[in-house]
Amino acid sequence: MTIQTSNKQGNLVNGEWIKSEETFLVENKYTHEPFAHVAKANKQLIDKAVTSAYDTFQNVKLTATDRHHILIRSAELFKERKDEIAMIICREAGKTINDAKAEVDRGIQTFIASAEEAKQISGQGLPIHGQPGNDEKMAFSIRVPVGVICAITPFNFPFNLTAHKVAPAIAAGNTIVLKPAERTPVTAIKIAEIMLKAGLPSGYINVVNGFGKETGPMLLKDKRIAMFTFTGSPNVGREIKNNSGIRKVTLELGSNSPNIIHHDTLDLKRAVQLVISRGYSNSGQACISVQRIYVHRSIYHEVIEEATKLAESFTVGNPELETTNIGPMISIDEAERAENWVKEALEEGAHIATGGQREGALFYPTILTNVTENMKVMCEEVFAPVISIVPYDEIDEVFKRVNDSRFGLQAGLFTSNFHIAMKAAQKLEFGGVNINDVSTFRADILPYGGIKDSGIGKEGPRSAIEEMTNEKVITMHL
Ligand code: SIN
Repeated sequence: MTIQTSNKQGNLVNGEWIKSEETFLVENKYTHEPFAHVAKANKQLIDKAVTSAYDTFQNVKLTATDRHHILIRSAELFKERKDEIAMIICREAGKTINDAKAEVDRGIQTFIASAEEAKQISGQGLPIHGQPGNDEKMAFSIRVPVGVICAITPFNFPFNLTAHKVAPAIAAGNTIVLKPAERTPVTAIKIAEIMLKAGLPSGYINVVNGFGKETGPMLLKDKRIAMFTFTGSPNVGREIKNNSGIRKVTLELGSNSPNIIHHDTLDLKRAVQLVISRGYSNSGQACISVQRIYVHRSIYHEVIEEATKLAESFTVGNPELETTNIGPMISIDEAERAENWVKEALEEGAHIATGGQREGALFYPTILTNVTENMKVMCEEVFAPVISIVPYDEIDEVFKRVNDSRFGLQAGLFTSNFHIAMKAAQKLEFGGVNINDVSTFRADILPYGGIKDSGIGKEGPRSAIEEMTNEKVITMHL
């Protein structure tokens, strides 16, 4: 397919695409050929981008219905250009074409849900009469946009996770400086281009490209930015939190997502099919990817056998082919890191049921057994198609083991026992618990976000809008 994208991409400032001399290369993650040359934003350009967002916020107001219409129109244009956008994702992120199309569909829903929320933003009536001496007063609150939001987005879902930041930001009436992941910036550039076509006034969205290490500190220093919303690694999240002062921050960070398969699950085949396929989709590069699978000892061997059969049935290779299930990881370096973690686990006593091979950035679906909880493949975020299967005897014991992690994003549990399901809902220390589904399940319309090192704040259009607005309390003496 021909992609309607020049291979030279600029930065977006106040509606103008600015191409600079200095560029960086974005490669096709499967062929490793050049995919795009993207202009690098320097200090002056970042300053201009923030000025544009700041001045626009001060001077150009959009009504709630304007914002609704622009987001709906954007969603329509994304739909028309779905194949083109999916192919960009496929090439710059290495995501299989089927998964890339599914991601565009999800992103469209994120825009539509944000458009709906734009019409629902409201404060609350406040019970001021509950405090003595206030009978002659009334009180209520309104929600107001925070101002300029800096959105820093990751490589693993370059369309939908950008949508989860820019669509609610616009729905709430904010302006944006978007800094996309340097390995997948073209998808974000397309989003901004299409939003402008959909009628978003210049200056509402600005895009600055470059390496996080260089652009991050410049953005953090600019006090005109009122809020940072970041998805990515815990280390970078910590940097942002430590350097953002008293500004709002939403952080969606990593996890080592656990999934429990209890012996009484009604459909064991479905459970195994889900944990395996969702451990390997996007080459395991999702914060909620299935990583630790705890299986009741009575079905442990049966699950390993079935899981191994399934893992070996996946086709690994060219992500542009519809028959491919697992494409390359984001880089050869990342695939090598995963390979080293697996080797280290094997040296520490783990067994390999299948996988472990690497060809460049391709990493084959891997199942480890006989693991311990202090191995990196268990206690750190593996972010690769590597899962570990661990037996357990008692449900209370497994809840403790699942919770014993520095992460807490989402967990999955398969059981037909209502009591156990409700106990899990209460006891598991995570931002979300999916019963009879995998940790990887996410409905984009719902609140999403973790606790502990998995982050702070929630996304999902309604929750994100709450984070991206301030509650202003109004009182009146009658
Ligand atoms: C993530 O990696 O945090 C997002 C996963 C998803 O939205 O499916």
